[in-house]
Amino acid sequence: MMKKLLGTLIAALALSSQFAIATESLKLDPAPIDTHDVASLQAGARAFVNYCLNCHSASLMRHSRLQDIGLTEEQIKDNLLFSAGKVGEMMNVAMSKKDAKEWFGAAPPDLSVVARARGADWLYTYLRGFYRDPSTTTGWNNLAFDRVAMPHVLWTLQGERVRTEVILKDPSGKDLGDGHGGVRKVLKLEMVTPGSMSTLEYDVLVRDLVNFLVWVAEPNQILRKQVGFWVLIVLGILILLTWLLKKEYWKDVH
Ligand code: HEC
Repeated sequence: MMKKLLGTLIAALALSSQFAIATESLKLDPAPIDTHDVASLQAGARAFVNYCLNCHSASLMRHSRLQDIGLTEEQIKDNLLFSAGKVGEMMNVAMSKKDAKEWFGAAPPDLSVVARARGADWLYTYLRGFYRDPSTTTGWNNLAFDRVAMPHVLWTLQGERVRTEVILKDPSGKDLGDGHGGVRKVLKLEMVTPGSMSTLEYDVLVRDLVNFLVWVAEPNQILRKQVGFWVLIVLGILILLTWLLKKEYWKDVH
């Protein structure tokens, strides 16, 4: 338990910056998402179908729902239908839970509501937190999810990184007042094989994926927010009218 906690703490530390990390608070990278950004949602849907749906389902999600983010039925059929036969079908996977368990040691969970369970920041940190670790079954480990059974499926894009520790020492040997006597062990993910994407491009891809997962967890949220806005405006007008009416009625009463 303690070890796990410590692991999570170290992981969060390591992620607070891509390279040298020296903060001590438990921190996830804030996901720069915007569920109104339709282009990003579409890119996320494409990435999800291409890279995640082989293993994970999003069974509460119908493919046809993708029309809500501006995709036509044709586009969905041509580009996004791999696992389901028809546009109206749910996003399911062909792989059985039992096979998955045998292959990976853990069944890939359904991702319909993972964004609500884990939060966008965790997902953003997790999908950017893979590193090579020869001691695990898959050869991958993750800063946000120690010894995760999921391999780094986007590694050709992000590249391969390894985890190293560097000792930072204040050159003057002075105590920096941080309680470590001027010496700090800093976790660092070092790139050993670059991927086909730059760090920025990869971050954008993950942002789109997380954006999509957040939207999938609550596809009505866009409409709900718009409706909510107008409901408040109408209520405001009604309050004003009621107040005017009251003034009119009580005008002659003294
Ligand atoms: C090769 C199969 C495979 C692919 C492809 C895959 N995953 Fe996974 N994923 C897994 C497995 C297995 C787990 C369970 C890990 C565990 O419990 O240790 C998992 C776990 C996760 C979790 C953690 C869920 C939780 O709350 O515990 C998230 C989030 C996730 N995957 C997202 C994704 C996304 C996004 C993609 C597409 C970029 C993806 N996965 C592609 C196999 C896969």
